[in-house]
Amino acid sequence: VDKLKKYAGYSEFSGPVVLVIMDGVGIGPGDESDGVHMANTPVLDRLFQEKLFTRLKAHGSAVGLPSENDMGNSEVGHNALGAGRIFSQGAQLVNEAISSGSVTAGSSWAMIRQCAEAGGTIHFIGLVSDGNVHSHIDHLFGLLDQCSANGFKKVRVHALLDGRDVDPKSALNYIKPLEEKLSRLSGNGADYRIASGGGRMITTMDRYNANWSVVERGWKAHVLGEGRFFSSASEAVSTYYSEDPEMTDQYMESFVIVEDDVPVGTIEDGDAVVFFNFRGDRAIEISRAFEEDGFSEFDRVRKPDVFYAGLMQYDGDAEIPANYLIEPPAISKTLGEYLCRAEVSSFAISETQKFGHVTYFWNGNRSGYIDEKFELYEEIPSDKIEFDQRPWMKAAEITDRVLEIIAGANHKFIRLNLANGDMVGHTGFPASIRIAVETVDISLKRILDAVQKAGGITVVTADHGNADCMWKKKNGTITPMVAHTLNPVPFIVKDYSDSNSFTMADIQNPGLANVAATLCVLLGYIPPDDYEPSLLEWKSSTTDS
Ligand code: 3PG
Ligand code: CO
Repeated sequence: VDKLKKYAGYSEFSGPVVLVIMDGVGIGPGDESDGVHMANTPVLDRLFQEKLFTRLKAHGSAVGLPSENDMGNSEVGHNALGAGRIFSQGAQLVNEAISSGSVTAGSSWAMIRQCAEAGGTIHFIGLVSDGNVHSHIDHLFGLLDQCSANGFKKVRVHALLDGRDVDPKSALNYIKPLEEKLSRLSGNGADYRIASGGGRMITTMDRYNANWSVVERGWKAHVLGEGRFFSSASEAVSTYYSEDPEMTDQYMESFVIVEDDVPVGTIEDGDAVVFFNFRGDRAIEISRAFEEDGFSEFDRVRKPDVFYAGLMQYDGDAEIPANYLIEPPAISKTLGEYLCRAEVSSFAISETQKFGHVTYFWNGNRSGYIDEKFELYEEIPSDKIEFDQRPWMKAAEITDRVLEIIAGANHKFIRLNLANGDMVGHTGFPASIRIAVETVDISLKRILDAVQKAGGITVVTADHGNADCMWKKKNGTITPMVAHTLNPVPFIVKDYSDSNSFTMADIQNPGLANVAATLCVLLGYIPPDDYEPSLLEWKSSTTDS
């Protein structure tokens, strides 16, 4: 990237620019269902009165998603924050590749066809819902139609249950149509079925090395055929519901579909496996389990010799996986690259659950440092529990480190992600959600005080909503709302540097992609031409003349 130029006359200040991303803290309706409103948040309330305040759009087209009904999520949110532009995201690119037919035009599909023609089974593993955060059931249906059109004889689906990006007990709304679809595609020598599955939070979809036992459980169910036996996936789901009225889809035990006590779809040599999620964070670990030779995260017992492909490539730098069906969005020229080029020293921190969000997603889905000379990333290990039980999570520990870094004065740009609003929001427990948001508020106070002392600038925003809607009322009954929301997020600048004067720029429909240019301006740099415009204008230095 080109070297950014400084504003002539911009007045340098000693403190850092600190960006606080309050994951999952949107601006809701302000009623009883709004966990941000219901929480006691004196600091946030005061920030909402600041002059340098606006609301940012964090969903739909503002973050590159196909429709305005698509809620935001951390991937697309951090991509937009870190790259300053809007890219067509996975959900959209897969729609296009399936409708144009290009999904089957590449070399990966040719390999899959070869496996099928040689008598191998074609397996699809992924999240079965229409959440459109990690996957979409229509993509799976499109791929199954291609299998049928190509005359593939034996196809198996390993169905991960959602209940996190969609209603908590909605699995049968997806599993039933999937079972019907598979039986329609069967017959005439074709045999299409569900082979295994389980709730996404305990089966297969771990992220950022938080808990590999989740992936091991998935491996056992999908590959080895080990898990609780059922005759169908809908029977598994109904059984779990009836055994425990509080059970929700995301936490369901893994299951294996059997006929006469024999698993119907273990993964064997000569088969092909497609992981049909488009989003990478929760797809990387299982991909590594299928691909790596010297793998030691858990005992695979056996590693079948299969052709493995992702729906997309999940990590472009590490090339995970090696084979994939659709080219991922090419997110280039990120703010991180510009800041390294300008030799601005950055610090990024979060706890495990969101660590990759402020590094990998922030940097356009690239893992690792851009330039270690100018960057330091730190991860605080997350608890391995459901977060309604520890709604404070690691906010205090993250904040402790941020305060040390501010005091150390070696980093001009500091970014952190506080996971509470989102991770606890996904559990749907109002009492815990309120504590989560209050925890964020306490951390905000500590950070603001430290930045004031250092004479820096604090920027507070969020990647998407979640805690701002805890439940919905449907026909008089309250059901927990665990997914993200369509609400806007706050954007606040609290300037303690007192060195330059900034005013709000007149931007129509501002969104998350406007933040990167704004950070450039606060740091004194003229933003790159192709970035979405800054939310602030630099007016003048307030210290000279
Ligand atoms: C998850 O992966 O936990 C959810 O599907 C999305 O949450 P995130 O986008 O906030 O990570
Ligand atoms: Co979330």
